[in-house]
Amino acid sequence: MRIIVTDNYGEMSQAAARTVARQILAKQDSVLGLPTGNTPIGMYGQLIKLCSHGLISFSKVVTFNLDEYRGLSSDHPGSFYQYMRENLFDQVDIREENIHILDGIAPDTEGECRQYEEEIRRHGGIDLQVLGIGLNGHIGFNEPGSNWGSKTRLVNLSAETRRRESRNFRDPGEIPTQAITMGIRTIMRAKRILLLASGQEKAPAAKQALRGPVTEKAPASVLQLHPAVTVILDKEASSLIKPEDIHELSTMGRSD
Ligand code: GLP
Repeated sequence: MRIIVTDNYGEMSQAAARTVARQILAKQDSVLGLPTGNTPIGMYGQLIKLCSHGLISFSKVVTFNLDEYRGLSSDHPGSFYQYMRENLFDQVDIREENIHILDGIAPDTEGECRQYEEEIRRHGGIDLQVLGIGLNGHIGFNEPGSNWGSKTRLVNLSAETRRRESRNFRDPGEIPTQAITMGIRTIMRAKRILLLASGQEKAPAAKQALRGPVTEKAPASVLQLHPAVTVILDKEASSLIKPEDIHELSTMGRSD
């Protein structure tokens, strides 16, 4: 696990975008696993810029999103599908048929989850999985207690997560109680993982994930077992990590 700390959110986003860009440049038809949330918005902005400058192309890239709210159709403004359209897909040259996002209103949820796993496999697995982290240490929507053997499945959202997700909904009655998410095992099968965290509020979750005990109670801690994880934190999110545990202090223009 390589831990990189940047000065601020902007630099974290640039470093993250460079990591994704290098993956695409090394393999044009890369399979990317993508997250939602506030954290990756800056990274997506940087990727859009690189694409508009012709430095990278998404024309052969295949994407699989981590999760989607259960009960929301893809045209619901609060859906992760809409988030992805707005923050990335509508502004890069990705092909529609290469975008994969779980269907929040699939009548057969189990079938939808099975098919998602099969599609990932059919594409040769995820080359680079980008992750954010929840305040409670969740990855995707794998809440504390999620089984390490878990695959893509329907999950209940914790009260804490629902409170946090309320930012995406005008009417509190609309906040979903469930989501469909890639499982811990699905995530751990990615060839490489890039974990991002920004801001003071994420410092405890980052510390627990990177240096705490590896336990199902802290879902992100499982990443300590993965052979190829890069973590990019801004200074605030890294504030509880010991300086000797940080591999690279990055300033703009010279980070990973
Ligand atoms: C949601 C998503 C996660 C994301 C997390 C953190 O729960 N399902 O994939 O990592 O939020 O969000 P934020 O980056 O906004 O803190």
